[in-house]
Amino acid sequence: MKINNKNTRTLQASDSKTFIKIIDQTRLPHELIFKDLYSLAEVVEAIKTMQVRGAPLIGVTAAFGLALALKDEASDAYIADVAQQLIEARPTAVNLAWAVNKLTTFLLNNEPKVRFEEAWSFAQQMAEDDVRNNKKIGMHGLQLLRTHKKHKLNVMTHCNAGWLATIDYGTALSPIFLAHDAGLDVHVWVSETRPRNQGMSLTAWELSQAKIPHTIIADNAAGLLMQEGNVDCVLVGADRIAYDGQVVNKIGTYLKALAAFEHNIPFYVAAPISTFDSNFIGEHQPFEIEYRHPNELLMISGKNNQGMMESIEIGSSPALNPAFDLTPAKFITRVICEKGILEPQSMGDLING
Ligand code: MRU
Repeated sequence: MKINNKNTRTLQASDSKTFIKIIDQTRLPHELIFKDLYSLAEVVEAIKTMQVRGAPLIGVTAAFGLALALKDEASDAYIADVAQQLIEARPTAVNLAWAVNKLTTFLLNNEPKVRFEEAWSFAQQMAEDDVRNNKKIGMHGLQLLRTHKKHKLNVMTHCNAGWLATIDYGTALSPIFLAHDAGLDVHVWVSETRPRNQGMSLTAWELSQAKIPHTIIADNAAGLLMQEGNVDCVLVGADRIAYDGQVVNKIGTYLKALAAFEHNIPFYVAAPISTFDSNFIGEHQPFEIEYRHPNELLMISGKNNQGMMESIEIGSSPALNPAFDLTPAKFITRVICEKGILEPQSMGDLING
C-alpha cells in the first residue's frame, strides 16, 4: 500500500539481518510509528500486545522472531522452546502456528551453523508469498464483486483484514483495493469492531489512505443497514478455517453472518490457504478461542485536546472479552483464497486434492 505516495509494507526486514521494522498498530490512526524489533522477546511482546496483529502478519512476524532468536543459539532443543513461546503468544489464528511449525521443520533438517541464515531467508520468502497470495485473493475477489453488477457497490466489512493485517494488500480488503483501482464505484461500511476498534482505527485509516469511500458504523448498526437494503455483500477475513468450512474470525463476525443470511446478502470470507486447519473438523475444535483482558472493554484510548494519547475508564463492572467467534459454513456464501473462489464445504477437498 502507498503511504504518503510511497509503497510501504507492514514489515520490513533489515539489510543487516539484525532487526525487523514494524508499524505499531496500537498507535493508529493517531500516529504512524515504525518500530524496530531486535529480539525474540520484543517480537513475542509485539504479538501479545497487538502492535502487530492480523492472522497472516503475525505468522510472518513470528517466523522472523524465530530467525532473530537463532543469532544466539541454534540447537534443536532451543528451537523447540522458541517455537513454543511464539505459538503461545496468541492462540487462535492458525497462521502463527503454521508459520512457526513450517520453519521449525525446515530448520531441523539443516545444520545448526547455517540455521540463522536459512531461517532469515525462509521468513523473507514467507513475506513474499504472503504478498503474492493476497494479490491473487484480490483478483479472484474482484471477479466476485463484478458479478454484483451494481452501479454502486456497498460492501460491509468487520475488523481489519487489510494491508495492516498482512505484509501487503490484505485479504478481505484486497478485492476492494483492486475494485477501486479498476474504477468500480465501491463504498465500504466499516464496522467499528468493539472492543479494540480495529475497524474504526485501522480499516478506516487504510481506506482513507487509498481514498476509497467508506463510512464507519457501530457494530450494532449492521442489521438495520442490511434490513434497509444498503448492503450488497459482506466481506471479512479469517483466523482459522475448518475442513468443513466453519470460519473463526473476529468476535462479531457470526452476528453479521446471521443477519446477512436472514436478508439473503452474500457473505464472503477471504483468506490464504495458510489459514486453513485440516485438524479442525466438525465439533472437534483443536484450538483455543482467545479471551483477552477485560480492560480492553472497560477502557478506551484516543487523542485528547492537547493531541496526547490518553486512556480513560468507561466501565467498571466484571467484564468478559472473547476475541473471536465461529461462523458455521451454512452462513458463508463463498471463500476466496489464492486458488480461487470456493464453496466453504469444498475447501478441504480442494486444498488436499
Ligand atoms: O485480533 P486481531 O486484530 O488480530 O484479529 C484480526 C482478525 O480477526 C482478522 O479478521 C483476521 O486476522 C484476518 S486478517 C487478514
